[in-house]
Amino acid sequence: MPPEAAPLDRAPRRVPGPARIAWPVDGRRSPTLLARATHVPFAAMSRSFVPVVGAGVSAGTPTPIRRRRRVSVEVSQRGPVVHDPDMTVDEYLASLAIGPDVVARRLDELRAHVTAEVEAVEAAVAAGSPVIPEIDMAEVLAGTVPPPTIAAVHRRGCAVVRGTFERAEAEAWDAEIADYVSRNAFRERFEAHNAEAATGSRIWGVYWSRPQVAARQHPNMVAARRFLNRLWTLDTPGGPGGAWFDPDTDIGYPDRVRRREPGADSLGLGMHVDTPAIGGWTILENQRVFAPLLTGGIDAFDPWNPAYRTVLPVESPVGCSVFRTFQGWTALSEMEPDDGVLHLVPIPLAVAYRFVVGLAGELGLDGEPTPAPRSDHGDELLARALVPIPAVVPGDTVWWHGDVFHSVADATNDVRWGNVMYIGASPWCERNAAYQADHLERFRRGASPRDFPPEDFEVEFVGRATVDDLTGTGRAQFGLAG
Ligand SMILES: [Fe+2]
Repeated sequence: MPPEAAPLDRAPRRVPGPARIAWPVDGRRSPTLLARATHVPFAAMSRSFVPVVGAGVSAGTPTPIRRRRRVSVEVSQRGPVVHDPDMTVDEYLASLAIGPDVVARRLDELRAHVTAEVEAVEAAVAAGSPVIPEIDMAEVLAGTVPPPTIAAVHRRGCAVVRGTFERAEAEAWDAEIADYVSRNAFRERFEAHNAEAATGSRIWGVYWSRPQVAARQHPNMVAARRFLNRLWTLDTPGGPGGAWFDPDTDIGYPDRVRRREPGADSLGLGMHVDTPAIGGWTILENQRVFAPLLTGGIDAFDPWNPAYRTVLPVESPVGCSVFRTFQGWTALSEMEPDDGVLHLVPIPLAVAYRFVVGLAGELGLDGEPTPAPRSDHGDELLARALVPIPAVVPGDTVWWHGDVFHSVADATNDVRWGNVMYIGASPWCERNAAYQADHLERFRRGASPRDFPPEDFEVEFVGRATVDDLTGTGRAQFGLAG
């Protein structure tokens, strides 16, 4: 799902569960999930990839079963690969040659790490020190972002890039979007379609306005993404064609806008994560992503390692079926920290911690065995570190690693708008190429992108972007020849 959006509970949630602790993924058997991904070089990728499976997989109560099948673990060019999404938790541990005692030890390690980071955030907040790193776009363009700043982004998993766009340009975009939604009676259409829209999050299903398309293909957006993508560990062995993603190109993942008027009666969003990583050990991808953590501990786990996060198949318990190095948005209006803005838990290992919490719960290491929810909402420890973004002005961009828990506070002010365009970094990779396959067709029709509700409001809109508005960068994002 898009950066901030997910219909969520407000509190951490546990699913009361049976004593036995193995179940099929969402109670279903999917041959496609067992299929090996087809790996081809980036240059050979095309829009002919099989569409991604994954958006909207629901939580549901798992059916307890206990399978006894042989676990297949092979060592490929990518390292150990566990091949059975239907394995029991015991089989999963056996495939990694570890026992519950190791899981208990990892939980202790991660809880200590997260607790220390939470306390560091609390201390910074108490001292009035900034928590979320800030970067000057001029330094991004010049390639002079100071190493301590880069280290801070690695530690906190998020950043504000000041002046990504000229303020005047962002304000012009805001005005054009206002005109676009107004003359096409978007709000009236949306409220007729959704009775709760009047008090909702003000995140509108608008994807193809000219400002959104312009920003996604803007040279400064390209530069910001290239910089951010390179904060990931790009030299990880393996990956299709020898790389897990291409840091220099992007599919321009189409996402929505938020337009929150002064005095809005607008609810926020509870703490959540938008990547498959939050779905626990039963997701095949997570079995691979977190294997080094379980076998080698914190020092062996790199949350910036893209291995297995960028390929097919994808099974996501959340709404987003692409790989994003960073989720993000572009500010189109001034926002203050107490306006009801985005809040972040600036701890990239928080998801790893919750992964092990879930695994430990299922193993009965902390009371009766308890299956973890397939979409985890964090816990009280993490919530202590939830901090608002600093004040932003039009043209600033905000970015956060997909494993960073985040929320949006309820609207609180009567004087300012709270307007953003959701634009993240979705670099070219096998997974994203598959998602991009029908962008052009949907763009031409004005249809909603596949990850989002099929509202298709813009099909009838006047003034949306067209192919004629695309630059070379934009054409590439739609799979068009330059
Ligand atoms: Fe989100």
